[in-house]
Amino acid sequence: MAIIAPSLLASNFLKMEEESKMLNESEADWFHLDIMDGHFVPNISFGPMIVAFFRKATSKPCDVHLMIEHPGNYAQQFKNAGADHLSVHIEACPHLHRNIQQIQSLGMKAGVAINPHTPVASLTDVLHEIDIVCMMSVNPGFGGQHFIPHTMEKIKQLRKMIDERGLKVLIEIDGGVTLENASIIMAAGADVLVAGNTVFNSADPKATIAELKSL
Ligand code: DX5
Ligand code: ZN
Repeated sequence: MAIIAPSLLASNFLKMEEESKMLNESEADWFHLDIMDGHFVPNISFGPMIVAFFRKATSKPCDVHLMIEHPGNYAQQFKNAGADHLSVHIEACPHLHRNIQQIQSLGMKAGVAINPHTPVASLTDVLHEIDIVCMMSVNPGFGGQHFIPHTMEKIKQLRKMIDERGLKVLIEIDGGVTLENASIIMAAGADVLVAGNTVFNSADPKATIAELKSL
């Protein structure tokens, strides 16, 4: 059964309280919060202040995806805001191991996010240290994009690498997840499905979450 992590990026920010209530009542497992700095990715979203508001609105884990440069400078702020999981991009971290240690020493689960062009093999020497791999299935920066088909191959490779080594790392797929492709993504070996537009632009978001959950 998939862990479902709706991405609040696609929610209506005029109705943060209602959207949070809907997710709380739904079968969603995590709140996925996308942080963009206008440098690592071309878009700007929101920062720790908004994460803190969502933290107050739910008891579900807050899964914070940092699409920012120098994430180490902000890890403490996101911890203070109530992040439970903090994912950093491998492409933004020349000292990735240090970032992972910092996140874990702050008491958060550590995730490493990889862009579509970044090989799964680049995770080889950190895989045993981390809790989550956030595999981007679109180029990060925007919601509502199409799933990049080659991701399927990368999921299978990563599943094999994790299983062969007997690790418990979760594979989280982020971008372009729909009701149509969710089951093949799961069959390839994913554990967590992030879904923004599929959830928040559906006529009945709770039912959509339940459908994703039932796959
Ligand atoms: C993209 C973000 C995603 C995004 C997913 O940069 O990391 O989490 O919100 O949105 P959808 O599900 O609409 O592709
Ligand atoms: Zn994300």
